[in-house]
Amino acid sequence: MSIIKTAVFPVGGLGTRFLPATKAMPKEMLPIVDTPLIQFVVEEARACGIERLVFVTGRQKHAIENHFDHMYELEANLQAKSKMEYVKLVREHLGEPGEILFTRQMSPSGLGHAVWCARHVVQDSPFAVLLADDFIDAEPGCLAQMVEAYEANPGNYLAAMQVDRDKVDRYGIAEPQDGQSPGQQSVRIQGLVEKPSPEEAPSRLAVIGRYVLEPEVMTRLSQLVSNSQRGAGGEIQLTDAIAAEIPNCPTYAYHFDGQRFDCGSKIGFVQATAHMSAKRGLV
Ligand code: UTP
Repeated sequence: MSIIKTAVFPVGGLGTRFLPATKAMPKEMLPIVDTPLIQFVVEEARACGIERLVFVTGRQKHAIENHFDHMYELEANLQAKSKMEYVKLVREHLGEPGEILFTRQMSPSGLGHAVWCARHVVQDSPFAVLLADDFIDAEPGCLAQMVEAYEANPGNYLAAMQVDRDKVDRYGIAEPQDGQSPGQQSVRIQGLVEKPSPEEAPSRLAVIGRYVLEPEVMTRLSQLVSNSQRGAGGEIQLTDAIAAEIPNCPTYAYHFDGQRFDCGSKIGFVQATAHMSAKRGLV
């Protein structure tokens, strides 16, 4: 079983791009056909043998907690009507009591800040971070591929993909070390910059929402938070903490096998829905 035992799920963002849907409902509960985005990443983490799942939540996120708990009235109602396949559907993603922990971010101060909120659970062990709005259809799952690479050759691993140059300002962009071929599965990097302009971007290799990280990244985040070192967008950035560790720790942009959809954007969400509808034979 994997040596990565803890996964962090930052779900404290405001979901501005999905207003008004996300006014009272977390964007992580938006469904791809019938399954909330958050359930896909939880299952992806469990498939790697991860035992502790930490959700970093914010206001209006109670639906996520409720989704991972029993709903006794509903289950009793379904049982009384002998709708056992639905009983199975509302129970099978629950996991063991105590497996999922919740902490509140209290202020949406950026992805790095959200990950830092999980520091007391992560402690001194390597950990994974999964962003539910990056929907990835892959078999094995994207995180499982990264954990396998990590176990063969430890370091910090960031899922990555090539993007068009006019889109680099939406991502953390990696700077490959000299001599690294962009086609390699694990590309060792020497720099990382959050949301650069197309002119300043060191490559088109964009970081997306799966990470396997050494605990020193958490120490770096603590430094950023205590020094109020805000990066792009005035937020505490995870990429800044990872970038600060590059001189001390081999850091890799990892080309996963699979199809990724940006479900934080409307078009990505619609495309993911169309993709999964077709895959399930619904259209
Ligand atoms: P996004 O940049 O997509 O931000 O965050 P967002 O607020 O969720 O969405 P928009 O841009 O307002 O539409 C990327 C990930 O980081 C989490 C989000 O929940 C999302 O999974 N995040 C972001 C936090 O948990 N806390 C934050 O302060 C910021």
